[in-house]
Amino acid sequence: MPGTVIVGAQWGDEGKGKIVDLLARDSDLVCRYNGGPNAGHTIVVDGETYKTRHMPSGILWGKECVIGAGCVVDPGVFIEELEEFESRGISTELVRLSGNAHVIMPWHLAIDGAGERRLGDLQIGTTRRGIGPTYADKAYRLGIRLQDLFEPKILRQKIEVALAEKNLWLERVYGEAPIELEELASRYEGYAQRLRPYFADTSLIVDRAIVDGKRVLMEGAHGTLLDIDHGTYPFVTSSSTLAGGACPGLGIGPTRIDQVIGVAKAYVTRVGAGPFPTEIEGPDQDRVRELGGEFGTVTGRERRCGWLDLVALRYAVRLNGITSIALTKLDVLSAFAELPVCTRYELRDGTTTDEFPAHQSDFHAARPVYEVLDGWGDGSLGGDDLPPAARRYVEFVEHELGVEVSWVGTGAERERVLVR
Ligand code: GDP
Ligand code: IMO
Ligand code: MG
Repeated sequence: MPGTVIVGAQWGDEGKGKIVDLLARDSDLVCRYNGGPNAGHTIVVDGETYKTRHMPSGILWGKECVIGAGCVVDPGVFIEELEEFESRGISTELVRLSGNAHVIMPWHLAIDGAGERRLGDLQIGTTRRGIGPTYADKAYRLGIRLQDLFEPKILRQKIEVALAEKNLWLERVYGEAPIELEELASRYEGYAQRLRPYFADTSLIVDRAIVDGKRVLMEGAHGTLLDIDHGTYPFVTSSSTLAGGACPGLGIGPTRIDQVIGVAKAYVTRVGAGPFPTEIEGPDQDRVRELGGEFGTVTGRERRCGWLDLVALRYAVRLNGITSIALTKLDVLSAFAELPVCTRYELRDGTTTDEFPAHQSDFHAARPVYEVLDGWGDGSLGGDDLPPAARRYVEFVEHELGVEVSWVGTGAERERVLVR
């Protein structure tokens, strides 16, 4: 099965980094196909914690790592990331950057922050890393791509054209200071020197690898419900987070994908604003947050916590064509005697459904209908087998979704996973 996509099946932070790291050992190439430094993927090895922002989670195994055209790159953050890995003895020599990936520029950061401030109570709660404005400029064809950095004349001209418009917005609409051309152009020319060795034809690399029968992992960032087209718009990110996004995001065709692994927590979290039917009311929300360490990797914000939502997960199975599931953080639920699991939504008209509502207002008003499963008591998920009640929880998920749960996460460390 050479082409495997690993995709977040909820609202992000499902533990994708850990699962990608686990599977990367036996892979040849690991690729990121969407998003930028709004992602934060955590991998824990031998008591050391590594956090990736742009970098594919295969980096720790020294695998060839691709950052595809569908990504957006903040060169300053990316260079910091390179330096961080190198200083910890991890080679970045096999990292490959697509020249078609768009560059996050300082005005994107300024506009992301100012736009959110202006929205006030209506804000999305973005990571303020300039993601939305960068993808907007890409679609508007005003973007600067990584390959532009390597041509100083083109770079300067593109910055000039962009600044003519962006400074108007910054000054007149958002009341912010304008950005100065010279300092910016020379800073980005400096970045170009550092990035040049990583620049490669990544579409060709990925396609060749698959054709040659190598094992390629494609690592989605964020999650299904944050997808720009099918997520809980407008409370979404600005890229295609779904498994299918791996094709345009890397420059390969759909026939190159053999399997899709959906990563889901055994409960649900969400950072930022937006509807969340199974969000827990009362002290159990804080308990899940504390036990699960549910604070944002990128922003440190508290993650909102909820019980497992199988209606939303069923939607994720559909949108991604998920062929198997990695269910992470089951250990966090060990503290609870009873575990509500949402199997249906009750809609405004009193009817119930097990399918994700197609209309936003139905979703906003949806009330979860729970089945309550038994907890497994003392919390010992350390062994080779799951205790009976934990196995029943996992089998319940499989039965409801019609998809196998092939991995169960029982702790943050690399080896804390049961392969079923
Ligand atoms: P990602 O963005 O999907 O890669 O997920 P994050 O890294 O942002 O958040 C997941 C968090 O859960 C990280 O702190 C992981 O170290 C941790 N984690 C992953 N799997 C497990 C697990 O099975 N159990 C526990 N307790 N923690 C886990
Ligand atoms: P990983 O890859 C969780 C959320 C933000 C916000 C919305 C839009 O670590 O799972 P953006 O900055 O992208 O414009 O913010 O999307 N968001 C994430 N939430 N995990 C992520 O990434 C996220 N990336 C974006 O919190 O609600
Ligand atoms: Mg994360």
